[in-house]
Amino acid sequence: MIYFFFGKGGVGKTTNAAINALQLSRSRKVLIVSADPAHNLGDVFDIKLGHKPIRIAENLDACEIDYKKVVDEYLKRITAKIKRQYKYLAAFNLDGSLNVLRFSPGVEEDALLRAIWRLVNIDIYDDVIIDLPPTGLALRIMALPVINRVWLNKLLKARKKIVDIRESLENMKPVFLDESSKDKNHTDKVYNELEKIEKENMMIYNRFADPEFSSIFIVMNIDKLSYAETIRTLEGLKELKISAKTIIVNRYTDSDANSCPDIMHDIKKSFSKYSIKALPYREHGIIGIEQLNSAKYFSI
Ligand SMILES: Nc1ncnc2c1ncn2[C@@H]1O[C@H](COP(=O)(O)OP(=O)(O)OP(=O)(O)O)[C@@H](O)[C@H]1O
Ligand SMILES: [Mg+2]
Repeated sequence: MIYFFFGKGGVGKTTNAAINALQLSRSRKVLIVSADPAHNLGDVFDIKLGHKPIRIAENLDACEIDYKKVVDEYLKRITAKIKRQYKYLAAFNLDGSLNVLRFSPGVEEDALLRAIWRLVNIDIYDDVIIDLPPTGLALRIMALPVINRVWLNKLLKARKKIVDIRESLENMKPVFLDESSKDKNHTDKVYNELEKIEKENMMIYNRFADPEFSSIFIVMNIDKLSYAETIRTLEGLKELKISAKTIIVNRYTDSDANSCPDIMHDIKKSFSKYSIKALPYREHGIIGIEQLNSAKYFSI
């Protein structure tokens, strides 16, 4: 199972991802991953973490995705592939153009999505918990498979046209010249590559959108801004046809709940179809495995 933790900056995503990871690790093998460029998973566990998963408790491994490394490797892979496929482009200073890729919109998100995908596919873990960046970037990452699908289908159609035209031109040639050069869709390298990317893309989307495989948690506090952002997150996810499972009301205090009756009313009403859990406010924070292990949710 994959668990995604969404939420506005600072509401307690990492803390709650860590608490849930520890709870799951009592009976399952768990990996917790920080996918937030401003990592604080190591701080929450009070353990130094790096790009590679390390054991931090019985049945629990943790890592923080190294953004720069992930983007560098992603660009290296793409560059090698393009160079292999389009040798003739060397004449147009391909290297110069590829350097610009680093700054192209979506590259960081795509590199990160693929890094998450690799981690959730490590088969030694029963569950992988993803501590996401704050809402905007998190939604962009989750939206990528849907956006990719649109342009991949367009590119596949365009490539098919090219293959068809090439094929009809080749059919005009005398038969003896035609034999070796017949290139249908399934033998066209570019078409095949696009199809491969589209297949993987759909696999990612189907896995993330299927509640049998993925569970979405949204963390919020009892305040207007984080309530509004939770609503926006649910709407954003709905557009992607992904549904959330649990809303965590973090830093809960009776005095906040009593002084904001309208927000409490809205939470109970708007989120009635989700499981709502509350985590009490702890004056001295919740840092380190012992404190995280002792945290307890209650229903509201
Ligand atoms: N229930 C709680 N009671 C008291 N302190 C809490 C609670 N939950 C989180 N905190 C504290 O609030 C701070 C922010 O929490 P956390 O790092 O989990 O939030 P975040 O949403 O991951 O933030 P960021 O968006 O910066 O990554 C931390 O110092 C954490 O210890
Ligand atoms: Mg965090």
